[in-house]
Formats: sequence, structure tokens, C-alpha cells
Amino acid sequence: MGDPSKLRVIQWATGGVGKAAIACVRNHPQLELAGCWVHSADKDGRDVGEILGTDPLGVTATSSIEEVLATDADCVMYSPLIPADEEVIAILRSGKNLVTPVGWVYPDAANPRVRAIADAALEAGVTLHGSGIHPGGITERFPLMVSSLSSAVTHVRAEEFSDIRTYNAPDVVRHIMGFGGTPEEAMQGPMAGLLEAGFKMSVRMVADHMGFRIDPEIRTIQEIAVASADIDYGPFPIAPGAVAARRFRWEALVDGQPVITAAVNWLMGEDNLEPGWNFGGRGERFEVEITGDPTVSLTFKGLQPETIAAGLQKNPGVVATANHCVNAIPDVCAAGPGIKTYLDLPLLAGRPGPHLAQ
Ligand SMILES: NC(=O)c1ccc[n+]([C@@H]2O[C@H](COP(=O)([O-])OP(=O)(O)OC[C@H]3O[C@@H](n4cnc5c(N)ncnc54)[C@H](OP(=O)(O)O)[C@@H]3O)[C@@H](O)[C@H]2O)c1
Repeated sequence: MGDPSKLRVIQWATGGVGKAAIACVRNHPQLELAGCWVHSADKDGRDVGEILGTDPLGVTATSSIEEVLATDADCVMYSPLIPADEEVIAILRSGKNLVTPVGWVYPDAANPRVRAIADAALEAGVTLHGSGIHPGGITERFPLMVSSLSSAVTHVRAEEFSDIRTYNAPDVVRHIMGFGGTPEEAMQGPMAGLLEAGFKMSVRMVADHMGFRIDPEIRTIQEIAVASADIDYGPFPIAPGAVAARRFRWEALVDGQPVITAAVNWLMGEDNLEPGWNFGGRGERFEVEITGDPTVSLTFKGLQPETIAAGLQKNPGVVATANHCVNAIPDVCAAGPGIKTYLDLPLLAGRPGPHLAQ
């Protein structure tokens, strides 16, 4: 047993987000790692440090849900590739709080699936908090904070501009995101549906909290650019005519005009695209803009890797996603039971480096 003054955290899945979350837990003065669930059979029974490529941590990974739920812990950081409501409910019913980047940023309380999860949390006296970066931070938390500097706001925009060549998940890039296939396949593929559940929640949070009288439907716009010549994306080539860039916009409308926009621009580099999309001279970034009196904007740099090679090793956006969740754990554990969003929690913050902490 570790330090009784620390909150005990279980990490659920050790992909890019999960590994970064464990690092954040280890650096956090109020937290310690108590357990770890893994999906991959070859990670079952191994020390978590071995999975991370560090010294042994004295915590053994398990692919048994029963075993991990029996572990004494205050909170689960839930970051599997594919989330499952029944797992979330089981975690909550085992008396553990839960933070996650896979949904519930601003869930619709009238949805029966959301109600079942909220009921599980209330009955067990624990809290679920959905976070991340985009959605889950840059899309709604930071725009809302910045909007308080403006009056008579007419538009709130959060937008990502990323080079997708740094995303080292070829199956996801090819089969879910539709890169390298035909535009028709990509337009009909699962990406818009997978993304919009999250982004539409963020747009609604901004609308509700600021008080816009938006139309009931959030508009989705998707656009595609194809390769005009061969493009080298490491894991597989993108042939001329194949999908090489995608844009999605989710817009809340008042009288048919967008007032809140969440958008992503994912490009396989800036060369050989038709139409000739690029990052507009300001490079990869996330942007927040509040149009009002005054119009205020904020550009996030550093969440995208310096180079493609660096991104394939460690992606800062993935690390920030994990940190945003883990840094919320002390406030989530202290919150009342149920599903709690940024609107319910205190001002979340990071912690100093271990050598600088009190
Ligand atoms: N909101 C945001 O801003 C944001 C940003 C980034 C990611 N995310 C979400 O966070 C989640 C994790 O992302 P990631 O980058 O860590 O993904 P990843 O690197 O692909 O890792 C996901 C992990 O999930 C486990 N897994 C694999 N197949 C699975 C399956 N069929 N069912 C359940 N678990 C499975 C594996 O864990 P083991 O290796 O331990 O076996 C895998 O390493 C994803 O759902 C992603 O969409 C959200």
C-alpha cells in the first residue's frame, strides 16, 4: 500500500492517452497509481513500468475487469479505444470516480443511456467527468473562459489545424478516417458520426452557458480534398485522386446564421492537395475566437509535434488530453455524486514539477 494521503488511480488501457496519463499520475503530488486494465493479451500480467518502458512500478496490469474493479482505488482514468456504457456503469458501481476523454463532456440528461450512467454514479455516491482537448477543453472550456472578456458576442469558434501525417494509427487513419480511399467511401464512412457526438455536446455547452437561442439542430458540414500527386504517409501511400484531407464543421445556428462553430482541418501535409488547402501560413495550431466587443482570439501552439518523426514517438496533443483528465481527478473526487462537467467543477489546473511542489 502506498501513501495514505494520496488518491489512488486506476488506468484503464495503455494506448497513447493511457501511457501519458500514467506519467501525469506519477508526477502529480496528490495521486498514485493503484492498478491498470489492459485490452491486449500480451500486456496482461506485466508490470506497468515494463509496458511503459520505464523501471518497474510495482503495479501489475490485468485484462480482468473483475480483478481491476476489486482493487482499492478512488478514481479510474478510462481511455480505451472503444468505450462501453456497461464498463462505465460497472466502474461507477464499484465505488470509483471516473475521468475520461471518450465522451460525456456535456451529456443530454434526458437520454436514457446517459440517465443509466448518472443513476449508477448517484447510487454509488461517485462522479463521472468527461474531458480531453478537442472536444473537451479547447472546444468549450477555454472559449467560455475567454468569452467573459467580450460583450455582445456574435460568434464563438474553436478550430483545429493538424497535419495527420503525425498520427501513427494506420488502421484508424485508413478505415475510420477514410484517408487513402475514395471520397465517396469517406463521406459515407463512420468518421462524421463518431466525431459529431462529442463536438455537438461541446457546441451545446457553449450555447447553453452563454444563453444563445440556437436552432434545435446543430449543422454538420464535411469537405474533402484529394491527392493531386502521390503523398507519402509512412504507413501507406496516398495515390492521386484518393482522400488526402478532411474538414468537419459543427455549427449552432440562430436564424440560419452560425453563432458557435467547432471545426477540424486534417491535412496529409500542405503539398499536392486538390483543392489546394493549407494551414494559412500560421502552421498547425488550435484556435479559439470570440467575435464581440472586443473580438478576442487565442492560439494554442505546442499541442502538435515539431516534426512528423517526433509525433510518431509522442504526440503532445495526446499527452495534453491525458493531463486534462488526470489534473481533474482531485476536484472530481471531491465533487458531489453524478455526472459533473466543467460548469460544475472548480477552476481545474495543472501541478508544478515534483521538485517545485510544496
Ligand atoms: N477528447 C479528446 O480530445 C481525445 C483526444 C485523443 C484521444 N481521445 C480518445 O481517447 C481514447 C484513447 O486514445 P489513444 O490515443 O490512447 O488510443 P490508442 O493509442 O489507439 O490506444 C487505445 C488502447 O485501447 C485498448 N484497446 C484496443 N482495442 C480495444 C478494443 N477493441 N476495446 C477496448 N480497448 C481497446 C488498448 O489498450 P492496451 O494497449 O492497454 O491493451 C489500446 O492501446 C480513444 O477513444 C480516443 O478517441 C480523445
